[in-house]
Amino acid sequence: MESMPSLKAFQHVLERIAEEIERTPGRGRAADYIPALAALDPRRFGMAVCEPDGTVYGVGEWRQPFSAQSVTKVFTLALDLAGEGDALWEHVGREPSGNPFNSLVQLEYENGIPRNPFINAGALVVTDRLHTRTGHAAETLLEFLRAESGNPALAFDLDVAASETVHGDRNAALAHLMASYGNIDNPVPVLLEEYFRQCSIEASCADLALATGFLARHGLRADGTRLLTRSQAKQVNAVMLTCGTYDAAGDFAYRVGLPGKSGVGGGIVAVVPGRCTLCVWSPGLDERGNSVAGVAALDRFTTLTGLSVF
Ligand code: DON
Repeated sequence: MESMPSLKAFQHVLERIAEEIERTPGRGRAADYIPALAALDPRRFGMAVCEPDGTVYGVGEWRQPFSAQSVTKVFTLALDLAGEGDALWEHVGREPSGNPFNSLVQLEYENGIPRNPFINAGALVVTDRLHTRTGHAAETLLEFLRAESGNPALAFDLDVAASETVHGDRNAALAHLMASYGNIDNPVPVLLEEYFRQCSIEASCADLALATGFLARHGLRADGTRLLTRSQAKQVNAVMLTCGTYDAAGDFAYRVGLPGKSGVGGGIVAVVPGRCTLCVWSPGLDERGNSVAGVAALDRFTTLTGLSVF
């Protein structure tokens, strides 16, 4: 990686963003379809920026663990792509869906092949394939996140996973429908357990910004070994840009201008390839499941610094 000026100069930008966010009234609502997340105060906020060498800067609650939820779909995609390569794309597409993250409508008329790996259906396919190859998808993911973040304390929140299992009818429907097309290998209850544990991982903005670093380093892990080829890292970033925030991906690209991936825990990770990764957390969501303050903060960051892909 070529040497670049430090991002330390951007600490004041982070502080300015946090002050602006603090003054912003509307913050959305915490996800209530997963009861264990519903009690979170939408006004909480944290943001971290991480350089390719692992130096992290932050503001607000940037060391506070939260439920990573769909942010984890970036990492399972990368882990599976690293293992099986392009064969994955026979089982999941890479086009924006234009539909909500948990929608069923496209799956039947597209023969059980989900539009992309970031909507729930596509993430279930990726986790299924990772589970088949490794024998323990969620553990493989957790080990990866611990290694990349340097935080051995990262763990599943089994209360959140149990809460989702009880309210998991839509994910079960997606998995069963895809299984009927032969696009799921493992028994659906096994897959759902892996997927809900995956989503329940608690991690902070600092942890997730660090763990996303391989996408800013063109595929290199924190220890310098290669996870993805340069080409695959570019591809994952591209799919994040076009599909990472679901039916808001166009608006996210318009406002933020970075590859990004959101989760209903209120986290969003974003990548400036070659330069840095970001993670922002605020639990209040808009109607498409993306953090209101999180998108606003990233919008301000790329506007104030000029660090965007556009
Ligand atoms: O499967 C679900 O519905 C959740 N575990 C994750 C959804 C999610 O985070 C969507 N992101 N905005």
